[in-house]
Amino acid sequence: MNAEPARLAAGMPYDVARVRADFPVLATRVRGKRLAFLDTAASAQRPLQVIEAVAAYERTSHANVHRGVYQLSQRATDAFEGARERVRRFLNAASEREVIFTRGTTEAINLVAQSWARSTLGPGDEILITWMEHHANIVPWQMVCQQTGATLKVAPIDRRGELRLDAFRALLSPRTRLVAFTAVSNSLGTVLPAAEIVAAARAVGALVLVDAAQAVPHERVDLRALDCDFLAFSGHKLYGPTGIGVLWGREAVLREMPPWQGGGDMILTVSFERTTYNALPYKFEAGTPNISGAIGLAAAIDYLEGLGIERVHAHEQALLQRATAALGRIPGLTIVGQAARKAGVISFTLEGVHPHDLGTILDAEGVAVRAGHHCAMPVMDFFEVAATARASFGCYSDEADLEQLVAALGHAREVFG
Ligand code: ALA
Repeated sequence: MNAEPARLAAGMPYDVARVRADFPVLATRVRGKRLAFLDTAASAQRPLQVIEAVAAYERTSHANVHRGVYQLSQRATDAFEGARERVRRFLNAASEREVIFTRGTTEAINLVAQSWARSTLGPGDEILITWMEHHANIVPWQMVCQQTGATLKVAPIDRRGELRLDAFRALLSPRTRLVAFTAVSNSLGTVLPAAEIVAAARAVGALVLVDAAQAVPHERVDLRALDCDFLAFSGHKLYGPTGIGVLWGREAVLREMPPWQGGGDMILTVSFERTTYNALPYKFEAGTPNISGAIGLAAAIDYLEGLGIERVHAHEQALLQRATAALGRIPGLTIVGQAARKAGVISFTLEGVHPHDLGTILDAEGVAVRAGHHCAMPVMDFFEVAATARASFGCYSDEADLEQLVAALGHAREVFG
């Protein structure tokens, strides 16, 4: 393990070499080449601090939570509930009762769809999303619209990949019961104008759900400032484990929502005649939770806060600017998504090369990018491309990654000349 974790460098200039030393996988060689890992938007790598926190829990403290009177179970419960408190502080939420552990963003959104929307909406009601959503913020609403007779509306985007706020506002009406939008587009990198969207939704009395999966790793999300009703994110995009995520919900709203999955932990009493439900947040956590995942997530939050989210943000923005300029100089390369405010994500196409072939050629050069529709097929349709290649940055991305990407793209142009 790094003798001095990178967080000790707080207050000093951002030292990406020290940050990289916390991530063992970055030393891996692929196909005999240095690994340039540029797929953080799909899943971030984990630092030793997260790996060690999970391993320490597994070695010393594992037992089921909320059930045992014995010491080990109490220790596991304390660690699990400590992770919930860590998430609460991270988001600046009012109460731990508002923090529900889920498998990830997708499950969090499905929870809102199947609990709140399914029990509340009917014909004539509308859910408004944007054209930039990940499938996880489209399909659950389509499903619940089929179940309830409600209608799904979609606010359009422009050629830069920005939300058309005028059109968004025009689609709002007293029929709009929920606005669900991504804070940062996973396919284009666009940072959406969250404050304006929330204010406009509030003006018609709609609830607001924010998909923050691509936002929380890159910028501070403060719930008291954001003023939404639901917010979802995933551990694995935040340098934490897979299979753990969070739904934050406003307590007054959560209290009125029915449970969506039945089982252990979410009940108070069960008889064949009648079951009563547990208090928040347990009402929405049926079954044994992902205990080690929650502990890993808390360690990931500690890690990111130790680096300083603002400093990570500045580092990624500097890389994004250099990458945008460097890729823009490559003949035949088109950057898809040129919004004024972007997170560290660049989607692109290279003339004459299918993105999947491009991904394979880049892989041969040690460069890991995602190629495909990025679970955002409507975005691909809008830009009239079947797929794009996507490079995305994290706290450990560096200049050498970028140089390797540019060199590999030059090689791809030669191959497909
Ligand atoms: N949602 C993840 C991505 O954008 C998988 O790649």
